Amino acid sequence: MIDVEVRELMQPFLLSDYQVQEVYSRFCNEIGKGLKRSTHAQANTKCFPTYVHELPTGNEMGKYLALDLGGTNFRVLLVTLKGHHDDTVQSQIYAVPKDLMIGPGVELFDHIAECLAKFVDKHEMRNAHLPLGFTFSFPCVQMGLKEAMLTRWTKGFDCPGVEGEDVGRMLHEAIQRRGDADIAVVAILNDTTGTLMSCAHRNPECRVGVIVGTGCNACYLEDVQNVELLEHQFRRGHQQVIVNIEWGAFGESGQLDFVRTEYDKEVDRKSINCSEQLFEKMTSGMYLGELVRLVLLRAIERNIIFKLSPKRKEYVETLQHKVHIYETKHISEVESDSFPEFLNTRRIIKQLFGLEKATVEDCQKFKYICECVSRRAATLVAIGISGLINRINDRKVVVGIDGSVYRYHPKFDAYIRETMHKLVKSDKQFDIMLSEDGSGRGAALVAAVASKTK
Ligand code: BGC
Repeated sequence: MIDVEVRELMQPFLLSDYQVQEVYSRFCNEIGKGLKRSTHAQANTKCFPTYVHELPTGNEMGKYLALDLGGTNFRVLLVTLKGHHDDTVQSQIYAVPKDLMIGPGVELFDHIAECLAKFVDKHEMRNAHLPLGFTFSFPCVQMGLKEAMLTRWTKGFDCPGVEGEDVGRMLHEAIQRRGDADIAVVAILNDTTGTLMSCAHRNPECRVGVIVGTGCNACYLEDVQNVELLEHQFRRGHQQVIVNIEWGAFGESGQLDFVRTEYDKEVDRKSINCSEQLFEKMTSGMYLGELVRLVLLRAIERNIIFKLSPKRKEYVETLQHKVHIYETKHISEVESDSFPEFLNTRRIIKQLFGLEKATVEDCQKFKYICECVSRRAATLVAIGISGLINRINDRKVVVGIDGSVYRYHPKFDAYIRETMHKLVKSDKQFDIMLSEDGSGRGAALVAAVASKTK
């Protein structure tokens, strides 16, 4: 049993049925605003048309290069699509050093072009003229499939000189500056679009793509007649188009204030994009660990946890000064633990505070804190997914999901389904599938579908 003090501490993280319904209807309202020309400017969820009108048929073939920028790492991939047979993917991961994440944009793109050139050389493809799909996982207004203007940086990136610019052009120019590879960027896409495409390739009922990783976002297939931002020439001949919601920004007009806690506010205040991406700050890997750190700090200060330890003052100092010391992956590890061993929890407590033998009660409390934070994140994600499913006309909708939080957390999927069962209309069926490398295979599929459409 969890004692009453911890329950009280975590109460603000437990969303009541009323709160869930209220967030749901505010979210649906915001999607409507994002799609309509007259209300788009005020909407937080921008619902950007992606210019991807077709899901894959399964017949896609050929070799494609893909770039994936937007999480903790940057990747270059060579994807060989083989129709109904398994694709092959060769890839290389490159770190994105912190100074590049906040340094001049031109340097970031030069780094990308350099990694690309090295990769092409290594695979002896200098003269191959391969089409390239660029997964650029930040909010962009697309003017076409290969033109995407960055509206704002997220997830700790903040390179001057890129917001307001076409990232397709910046990549092209960086490749030209080097002059040692002949590569054509044929598509720019968001990681959610890649996820939807790669899942739809395996399951034609897939209509929604979701990422719960470093950042959090979703896209879905909408009827073109509802996407007022899409110019006429891009509607003709098409019934549907993938819409990138950019739901991470939801809440920026105060819609989430009635559920945001003091901890959410502090995470936001200390971030480099204060008052932006508020839904993302309650749901994604970049912030969940921080939320737990702040709650834990409060729990120790109030003598709710580690009551018997003489070194509580030191623990407080550790948590106060070491921002990001508690990572989101630790939440997954703690929640994988079982009573009464708590092997991961004890190891993490030892790592954090040097406390050798945490008591069973302390481990239970620690785990409960993590559970409340991740369960609330999953509930919010489920609210968004349910809103999208209920908009879609098909009776059965499959949702493709990827991202480190969803992939590695032992119960995130179960938490999501629990809320979806409450919110998805009763005449609809849904299922969730884990995406396999949406950002890589998805980019190749978009490039393939784009070449076919041409
Ligand atoms: C970005 C989205 C992206 C998501 C997941 C967010 O910060 O704004 O474009 O899809 O992270 O990577």
